[in-house]
Amino acid sequence: MPGMGAVATTLIAGVELVKKGLGEPVGSLTQLGTVWLGKRTENRVPKIKDFVPLSGMEDLVFGGWDAFPDNAYEAAIAAGVLIKEHLNAVRDELLKVRPMPAVFDPRYVAKLDGTHVKDYGSLREATEKVRQDIRAFKEENGLERAVMVNCASTEAYAQPQKAHFSPEEFEKALDRSDPSISPAMVYAYAAIMEDVPYANGAPSLAADIPALVDLANERGVPVAGKDFKTGQTLMKTIVAPGLKARMLGLEGWYSTNILGNRDGEVLEDPESLKSKEVSKLGVMDTILQPEKNPKLYGNISHLVKINYYPPRGDAKEGWDSIDIFGWLGYPMQIKINFLARDSILAAPIVLDLALFLDLAQRAGMSGMQEWLSFYFKSPMSAPGLYPEHDLFIQQMKLKNRLRAMKGEDLITHLGLDCYE
Ligand SMILES: NC(=O)c1ccc[n+]([C@@H]2O[C@H](COP(=O)([O-])OP(=O)(O)OC[C@H]3O[C@@H](n4cnc5c(N)ncnc54)[C@H](O)[C@@H]3O)[C@@H](O)[C@H]2O)c1
Repeated sequence: MPGMGAVATTLIAGVELVKKGLGEPVGSLTQLGTVWLGKRTENRVPKIKDFVPLSGMEDLVFGGWDAFPDNAYEAAIAAGVLIKEHLNAVRDELLKVRPMPAVFDPRYVAKLDGTHVKDYGSLREATEKVRQDIRAFKEENGLERAVMVNCASTEAYAQPQKAHFSPEEFEKALDRSDPSISPAMVYAYAAIMEDVPYANGAPSLAADIPALVDLANERGVPVAGKDFKTGQTLMKTIVAPGLKARMLGLEGWYSTNILGNRDGEVLEDPESLKSKEVSKLGVMDTILQPEKNPKLYGNISHLVKINYYPPRGDAKEGWDSIDIFGWLGYPMQIKINFLARDSILAAPIVLDLALFLDLAQRAGMSGMQEWLSFYFKSPMSAPGLYPEHDLFIQQMKLKNRLRAMKGEDLITHLGLDCYE
């Protein structure tokens, strides 16, 4: 994991606690989820982990990079997500996880003054060093395979530029250390070149540029992203499909959040904030399809605000004030007040992505993995296709993909088979 802060350490500590029988992997589809197979009368509902050959938690070893030298125990204490009792139960395991020096560029994360950073002349050299780190990590730990999940701070907002459009342009840009290549892209490139599947949990532009998607396809490496779908956006993509299903109208959706962790601090920088806000705003259009339902969804005010508020730490709070209308246009309101815990919601996503991407690679899948949209606020999709945001369609895609992998019938929910 590039970025060993709150999310990464909550994942590592959690997996170690589960391995010791001191916790349950709540929120993880790979550990707790089931998949329905065949006709309803057959009653075949295996656990996902028994249905497809996922690696077990006992096979996992964690490592990564950070711009600060704290080991995973120190970083977890600083993040303040898990209680001391939990952290002390896995202290030895966490102390061993020491981040490698980061590829860091203050132009991309203005709020941090990274001290644990690599020395490199060109960006090409930076990629070589990360690739070397990956190889050394695998060797030292006796690993057959690895997966990279980006858990680093949100970078400044960026849009694809010339250097991002083809692998050839990207390679040239690395040689001349083009400033449009961000650290997140350096890690993603290194992963793909080492045949390591890659997922982007941050809203930063990384493997979602055409150059890296093409490279991933060429090399047969699966990639997915971006921006973990946790708190408020998770709620939005649960509630909005419900309103749409019942053809209830929407006039406006005002979302505001406070959070006090380092992620929140980084988001105080307007450029990093923009990456996050763009990612959060994108979800509504594809769910509601305003062009197909202009009377219901043609004129929505959608506002998203994020404020850094230190007293809350990782225990963020989100408010949604939703103005809807029903029969004959009569107005109604819904209020959601979600007292969430950012990293508690994100950790199982990192675990699932690592296990599913590893499975995808072994199943011969490469390039963009749309079936993993379920986990992201800004899912990647093929050019010309809109990304799917509806959590329930995303879930169907994911489970149908697993069924297809194993040669099982896809579930249509037609239900007629039981009446034949
Ligand atoms: N927790 C959630 O619910 C959630 C949801 C969606 C997305 N995310 C994203 O996940 C990422 C991690 O979140 P977090 O709460 O763990 O943040 P965090 O600030 O606790 O951890 C991020 C870590 O990345 C490190 N870092 C910064 N630049 C780096 C670089 N170039 N290379 C290596 N390390 C670098 C920082 O030093 C820090 O330790 C953020 O981008 C956040 O936006 C989190």
